[in-house]
Amino acid sequence: MNILQTKGYDELSQKAAEFIISKVRQNPEIKLGLATGGTPQGLYDKLIHDHKQNFTSYQKVTTFNLDEYVGLEKDHPNSYHFFMKKTLFDHIDIEPSNTYIPNGEVEDLDAECLRYEKNIEELGGIDLQILGIGSNGHIGFNEPGTSFQSMTHIVELTQSTREANARFFNKPEDVPTQAITMGIKSIMNAKEIVLLVSGESKKEAIKQLLSEKVTEQFPASILNTHPNVTVIVDEEALPKL
Ligand code: GLP
Repeated sequence: MNILQTKGYDELSQKAAEFIISKVRQNPEIKLGLATGGTPQGLYDKLIHDHKQNFTSYQKVTTFNLDEYVGLEKDHPNSYHFFMKKTLFDHIDIEPSNTYIPNGEVEDLDAECLRYEKNIEELGGIDLQILGIGSNGHIGFNEPGTSFQSMTHIVELTQSTREANARFFNKPEDVPTQAITMGIKSIMNAKEIVLLVSGESKKEAIKQLLSEKVTEQFPASILNTHPNVTVIVDEEALPKL
C-alpha cells in the first residue's frame, strides 16, 4: 500500500482530487467506483471546482456506487442516490445513464444484487475504486465478519454504523436497518483503489489497517493484499511520525 499523509482534510481532498483528475484525463472512459459518507465530500467539491475551472470532462466516465440504503426512495434526502446527485452528478457533465447505484427500493433485492454485479462485469469492471472506511473497519457497508468472498449483497447494519450515520438523519431511528452493498470481492476486483481516511474517529481504524493483520473481523484489512492501493490519510487520523 502506498501511504500519502496530508496535513488536514482540505489537503487530503486536494490530493485525492488531483489523483482522480489525472486518471480521468489519462482515460476519459474510466469506470470509477464511488463512495458516500462525509469523507469524500471534500474530494467531490474539488472535482466540481476543477470541472468548472479546467473543464475536465466526465461525459464518457461511468460510475458505480458502493452501496445504498434499503427502503429509501431515490429522492429521499438521505438516500445515496440523492447524495450523489447533490454532491457531484448535478454539477459535472456526467451522463445520468452512466451513473450506477444499487436500487434499494425494489421488491426482489437478491435479484438486484445479481443485476448490479452483472452490470459492473459487463461494463468491464471498475478501474479505480474510491473508498472511505468506517471506524469498525467497514468498507462499503461490509461490516466485520463479512466474507472476503462476498459479492454485492444485502446487509443488516450494525448498531455502531447506524449511530455513526445518524448525524445525517433527522432522528437516529430513521437510519435504515438494511443496505445493499458491493461485497468485499467486488471491491477487490477493482484494478486500483484509493482509500480516504480522515479525522480522529478513524485513528484506531488506520492503526489496525497498517498493522497488516488480515482478518474478516476488520474488513478493510483485505486491502493489504490488493496490488494497487493508495491510502490518503490526514494528520488527525494518523499523526506524523
Ligand atoms: C458509510 C458508507 C461507507 C463510508 C463510511 C464512513 O457507512 N457506507 O462507504 O466509508 O460510512 O463514512 P464517513 O466518511 O462519513 O466517516
